[in-house]
Amino acid sequence: MRRKLVAGNWKMFGLKADLPEVSAIAAAAAANPGVDVALCVPFTLISAAAKAAGAMPVGAQDVHASPNGAHTGCVAAPMLVEAGARLAIVGHSERRAAQHETDAEVKAKAEAAHGAGLQAILCIGETLEERDAGRAEAVVTAQVAASLPDGAAGSWLALAYEPVWAIGTGRTPTEADVAAMHGAIRAKLRALIGAEADAVRILYGGSVNAGNAASLLACADVDGALVGGASLTAAKFVPIIEAAA
Ligand code: G3P
Repeated sequence: MRRKLVAGNWKMFGLKADLPEVSAIAAAAAANPGVDVALCVPFTLISAAAKAAGAMPVGAQDVHASPNGAHTGCVAAPMLVEAGARLAIVGHSERRAAQHETDAEVKAKAEAAHGAGLQAILCIGETLEERDAGRAEAVVTAQVAASLPDGAAGSWLALAYEPVWAIGTGRTPTEADVAAMHGAIRAKLRALIGAEADAVRILYGGSVNAGNAASLLACADVDGALVGGASLTAAKFVPIIEAAA
C-alpha cells in the first residue's frame, strides 16, 4: 500500500515573511500522520524553511546534475543537502519549456539528487496541442522512459503527472483521463523496472485545490498531489493535506 504524498511547489514565491505559512503547514502535516507532506521552496528559503518546518521535509525545485563545477548560478545536490533540503523536484514543465531541459538532463538531475541522498519528484506531462492530437499517453510514457533515472525505486523517487495545460489554469483533466494516464504511467514503469513499479508513487499536479483534491486523489493509481498556487498558504493547502489523509 503506497502512502499518499502531498507536496507543495512554491515556484518563484516566498520570502522570510512567509515562514509562518511554512510552520502552519508543518503543524497540519504533524496532525495528519497518515499522509506524507513536503514543501519545495525557492533555494533562498530552504535553510530558513527547513528550520520552520520541523519534521516536515523541505525541498528544492531543481538541482544541477553535477556535484560542483563551473556552472554560474546553478545549485548542486550536496549544497541542497547542506542547506537542509530533503528532496528536489526535477523536470518541471516550466523548466523543460523555459530552460529547455531535456529528458536526458532530467534523468541526470534525478540521479544526482539520489546520489546526494535526496528524494526526487520527477515531472512529466503533455501540452494541450499534444493532447488534442491524441498523443498524450504516447508523449508522457516516452518522457517516463527517457527521463527515468538508473536505479529508480519507490524509496526515493516519485513521478508527478502534470498536464501542462492544467498548470495554473484552473482546468483539470476528467477523473477518467487522470486514471487512464496514471494507469499508463504505471504500466510503462512495470515494463521498465518490473515489480518495483508498484512502490513508486505517481502524483497528480495541475490546478489541485481544496475543492477537487478528494476526487483527484481517489482516482486509481493517484498516490498524491503536487500543488502549486494552492500550497502558498496554510488556509489553501491544509484542506488538500486533509483530503489525502
Ligand atoms: O508543480 C505544481 C504545479 O505545476 C501545479 O501548479 O498552480 O496549477 O497547482 P498549480
